[in-house]
Amino acid sequence: MTQVFHRMPKQTLPVAVAGEGIEIIDSTGKRYIDASGGAAVSCLGHSNARVIGAIRRQAEQLPYAHTSFFTTEAAEQLADHLVAAAPEGLEHVYFVSGGSEAIEAALKLARQYFVEKGERARRHFIARRQSYHGNTLGALAIGGNAWRREPFLPILIESHHVSPCYAYRERLAGESDAAYAQRLADELEHKILELGPETVAAFVAETVVGATAGAVPPVREYFRKIRAVCDRYGVLLILDEIMSGMGRTGYLYACDEDGVAPDLLTIAKGLGAGYQPIGATLVSRRIYDTITGGSGYFQHGHTYIGHATACAAALEVQRVIAEEKLLDNVLARGEQLRANLRERYAQHPWVGDVRGRGLFVGVELVQDRESKASFDPALKLHAAIKREAFARGLMVYPMGGTVDGRNGDHVLLAPPFICTAQDIDTIAERLSTAIDAAFVATGVTRAA
Ligand SMILES: Cc1ncc(COP(=O)(O)O)c(C=O)c1O
Repeated sequence: MTQVFHRMPKQTLPVAVAGEGIEIIDSTGKRYIDASGGAAVSCLGHSNARVIGAIRRQAEQLPYAHTSFFTTEAAEQLADHLVAAAPEGLEHVYFVSGGSEAIEAALKLARQYFVEKGERARRHFIARRQSYHGNTLGALAIGGNAWRREPFLPILIESHHVSPCYAYRERLAGESDAAYAQRLADELEHKILELGPETVAAFVAETVVGATAGAVPPVREYFRKIRAVCDRYGVLLILDEIMSGMGRTGYLYACDEDGVAPDLLTIAKGLGAGYQPIGATLVSRRIYDTITGGSGYFQHGHTYIGHATACAAALEVQRVIAEEKLLDNVLARGEQLRANLRERYAQHPWVGDVRGRGLFVGVELVQDRESKASFDPALKLHAAIKREAFARGLMVYPMGGTVDGRNGDHVLLAPPFICTAQDIDTIAERLSTAIDAAFVATGVTRAA
């Protein structure tokens, strides 16, 4: 009988005892290829000697110093490293311990910025359906994941949602990317006008949608048009790159590929690669100057912000990525993985879409490729895929509710940046066997 309050208390979990490259090993000696990086976290695999060495050195020197008394070399150097490559205007970094905290900080920074400017009416946040920004109450409130929000609705702050940029399902027949992007930008503009521009603080979006819909990239021009709408009404743009940032898409900041710079940008997961818990909110000079030139400080803080050992680990993770030019591998292996899956599933009746950017790949399953009808959610196809893959020594991140929070199934893949071409082929092969087994296990084969 366990005393740990597990995520799924009725499930018996294997005990993870070791990590070796892209694999995790359990107490029976069974090996699992980590093709999802846990939840898009472990971008360097599980045994990087440089990162482990950096953690050891920092812990021996000084593990932790409270940020109301001290700064540390580790935090300063990490901030310099992140800002040096950051999108235009992002010049300061607020360190936290994970993704949800990074979003909470972004929401409060946006609000305090307007308070300092005397625009106290700005209180509304607009986000998108089919998105996830975290499980703390503020982050959950702006998130558009219906299933995660539902039990907590009465205690969530008011928030507003517009359509995601989900071309596979929501672009109209015959509609160009440019026309689709314009339609979505118009929808945001209407929402801002409906609420009253003087009351809107920020628009929040994942640059590439992660777990909720399965690695859904925006169409070209989408974020440029969104940025223009935000600018027209003085609304801040907050991009959530907690999953898609830090190289996952082949760009250190995913929005670099879209040619936009947000006012606030959140990162976590790949920042510390799982070696330490760390997240951060990158802040524009304009917001920083307004706050420091006004009341003088951000009215926020947690005990572990700027944690020295976490910063030292993340700094080494980011140095390894830069020095070993791992983003080139992310782009090449990502192309290989999508090409492999597209070829494999070109004629498959139940695989509707293979998508993503870099090593951030989504596979959407459908009952009918023509109509894109999804499977009966009662089948829990996504859970069967996770189970069958895990039994075969493969970690992937499938979810249901892809379409609207209830219907739809997809598999999210986010393998480590250190994967070889051979690893990618093995992942695709094992995944395909697992998906076939899941169809059999859920009776889909017979039903079709
Ligand atoms: C896009 C996005 N935002 C926020 C979060 C929340 O991060 P955390 O679980 O570290 O609080 C996640 C976690 O999956 C995420 O994918």
